[in-house]
Amino acid sequence: MSPTRYLVVAGARPNFMKIAPLLPALEARGAEVVLVHTGQHYDAAMSDVFFAELDIRTPDVHLGVGSGGHADQTARLLEALAPVTVDCAPDALIVVGDVNSTLAATLVAAKLGVPVAHVEAGLRSRDWSMPEEVNRVVTDRCSSWLLAPSEDAVQNLHDEGFVPAAVHLVGNVMVDTLLRRLDAARQRDVPARLGLDPGRYGVVTLHRPANVDDDAVLADLLGSLGEVARLVELVLPAHPRTRPALERLGVPAGLRVVDPLGYLDFLSLQAGAALALTDSGGIQEETTVLGVPCVTLRDTTERPVTVAEGTNVVVGRHRGRIVAAAAAALAGEVPARRPALWDGRAAERIAEVLATRPPVDPTTRPDDAAEGAP
Ligand code: UD1
Repeated sequence: MSPTRYLVVAGARPNFMKIAPLLPALEARGAEVVLVHTGQHYDAAMSDVFFAELDIRTPDVHLGVGSGGHADQTARLLEALAPVTVDCAPDALIVVGDVNSTLAATLVAAKLGVPVAHVEAGLRSRDWSMPEEVNRVVTDRCSSWLLAPSEDAVQNLHDEGFVPAAVHLVGNVMVDTLLRRLDAARQRDVPARLGLDPGRYGVVTLHRPANVDDDAVLADLLGSLGEVARLVELVLPAHPRTRPALERLGVPAGLRVVDPLGYLDFLSLQAGAALALTDSGGIQEETTVLGVPCVTLRDTTERPVTVAEGTNVVVGRHRGRIVAAAAAALAGEVPARRPALWDGRAAERIAEVLATRPPVDPTTRPDDAAEGAP
C-alpha cells in the first residue's frame, strides 16, 4: 500500500532547494504533506529568502532549534522532532541531503517504526572526518527508499550491501529547481548590480569546518585566492560561519566579500561567472549544469559524477594546484553537462517511486531478496 501522509523535514540552507520541487510533486499525487522546518538555519538570508523565492509554503511546524555543537544541536533536534513525528503519525518520513537535521529526523522515525525515504542517498566522500559523511551513512542505513541522484551513488549502495529493491536512481532534485529558476535568476542581473563584467569574475564560497575553523588553514586558502585574484576578480558571499574569521584575518586585494545571497541572486552570480572556487557540494553540481568550471577546495568529493561528467576538478588546499586549476579554467571553455537524469524531473520520479514501491525493511540483505523473503 502506498503511503499517503508524508512528513518532510528540512532545516538548513542546502535542504530548501531540494524540497521545493518535491512538495508539489507529492501533492499532485494526492498525498498529504506535513512540512517541518527544524530551524537549524534561521537567519533571513540563510532561510526565509529561500522559502519566498522558491515558493515553498510556510512550514506546518517550526522547531527553532538554532545553532550549536554537533552533539547539542543533534540532541535538541531529536527532542524536538520526536513529539512532532508521533503527532503527525506519517506513513513515511522524507529527508533530503546530509545535514544534522536529516540525521536527527531519520533516527527519530527509525525508532518509531516510520519508514524513511532519503533523497540524495548513496553519496560518499569516504572522508569520515566530515560530519556530513557520518550523516549520509547513518541516514542511508536507516532508510527504506534510497533515492539516488547518480549511478555512482547507486554503485556505492550496491557495494555496501543494500538490496536493489530499496535503491532507486531518480536523478538530481536540486537540478529540478535550478532549471526551473534559471531564467528568473538571470533577470536579477546580479553581476551588473555588483559592478562585475559577466564572464570576467570568479565566485568563491567557503564554509566547511575543515577550511574555515582553523585560522592557519583559512589564511593559507586566502593566500591562494589572493593569487587567483591577480588573474580574475573574485567575489565571496560569506556564510555566517566564515564571516568572523574573514574579518579577523583580512582578505587579499581582488577578493570582495559580500553578504550571503538568496537563491536567485546566487544562481545569477554563478551563471555569469568565469569560474567557481568552492568547498560546497551543491555548487559542484550546479556549476556542472551551468557549464561553469569549478575548482573544489577539498581533498575529496562525494559527487564524483561532477568530475567524470562535469566541470569540476578537486584540488585540495595546495596553493600551486589551486592557482594552476584556476588559470586552466580561465584559459578554456567547458560545456554545460547533464549527467543521467539530471533533467528537471527528479521530484516526479521520487513521488512515483514512493507511491508505487513498498518500503523495504532496512535489515533486508541481498540474500533475503534472492530467496524471496520479505
Ligand atoms: C550546515 C551543514 C552543511 C551545509 C551547510 C550549508 C551540518 C552538519 N552541516 O553547516 O552540510 O553545507 O549547513 O550552509 O548540518 N549560523 C548563523 N545563522 C544561520 C545558520 C548558521 O549565524 O542561520 C552560524 C552559527 O554561528 C552556527 C554556524 O553558522 O554556529 C554553523 O551553522 P550550522 O548549522 O551548525 O552548520 P553549517 O556550517 O551552516
